[in-house]
Amino acid sequence: MALLEVKNLGISFGGLRAVHEFHMKIEKGRLYGLIGPNGAGKTTVFNLLTGVYKPNEGIITLDGENIVGKKTTEINKAGIARTFQNIRLFKDLTVLDNVKAGLHNHYKYSTFAGILRLPNYFKVEKAMDEKAMELLKVFDLDGEAQTLASNLPYGKQRKLEIARALATEPKLLLLDEPAAGMNPNETKELMETIHFVRDTFDMTILLIEHDMKLVSGICEELTVLNFGQVLAEGKTADVLNDPEVIKAYLGE
Ligand SMILES: Nc1ncnc2c1ncn2[C@@H]1O[C@H](COP(=O)(O)OP(=O)(O)OP(=O)(O)O)[C@@H](O)[C@H]1O
Ligand SMILES: [Mg+2]
Repeated sequence: MALLEVKNLGISFGGLRAVHEFHMKIEKGRLYGLIGPNGAGKTTVFNLLTGVYKPNEGIITLDGENIVGKKTTEINKAGIARTFQNIRLFKDLTVLDNVKAGLHNHYKYSTFAGILRLPNYFKVEKAMDEKAMELLKVFDLDGEAQTLASNLPYGKQRKLEIARALATEPKLLLLDEPAAGMNPNETKELMETIHFVRDTFDMTILLIEHDMKLVSGICEELTVLNFGQVLAEGKTADVLNDPEVIKAYLGE
């Protein structure tokens, strides 16, 4: 069974069919890409997959379970985590606390224990600190655990967003243009990080990206979206050499 299967997904905003008859199938552990021109509907697909928008039609199954109609928090608990096209960190929190924010799904103490600082509160907080530091080490951010997120350079903020998303222990990680605004060195590092995350956590990753070097370097399979519809799909090299794709998108 595929980890994610999407069938006949559609949403309209007023008269605009932003996503129409969209389908996609992603096997566990794959690095998958969603590409297409500006305004093609890529971020809208992410918003549909994560419950930000409710589709007008279609089915989305994660591990065989239909997640259409669930709230964003329920979908996150079911196993989908994401990063955003425009970075959304808690800028006034430290790097460590940003990752801990993602851990609250899994580590719990009662409000009562939190307010009264009961022993369980300290035990859970310590466990979260350890887990968050482990994740920060993966991204080489452990040295900056106490830095305010807003004081990190841009490339590191992007990495912190990925670390926070992973803290929720997702089955599927959605990355919306993670390399946007990065310099070539940061982009190269990001490419290595994404491979590392897949290999280390056996993660399934769906990536929206415009940088074709990054797409070729990361994605094993692709779906191309054009005017909200699937224009092509398949192995990355085949899709990027498809004359229709070149005409509609790459040759623009
Ligand atoms: N909440 C909304 N209300 C109205 N229109 C919307 C809404 N969200 C998206 N759209 C429209 O849907 C279309 C697809 O937008 P979307 O952001 O998904 O594109 P995209 O492929 O992510 O583009 P980009 O590469 O520029 O990020 C656009 O025409 C956009 O203006
Ligand atoms: Mg977008």
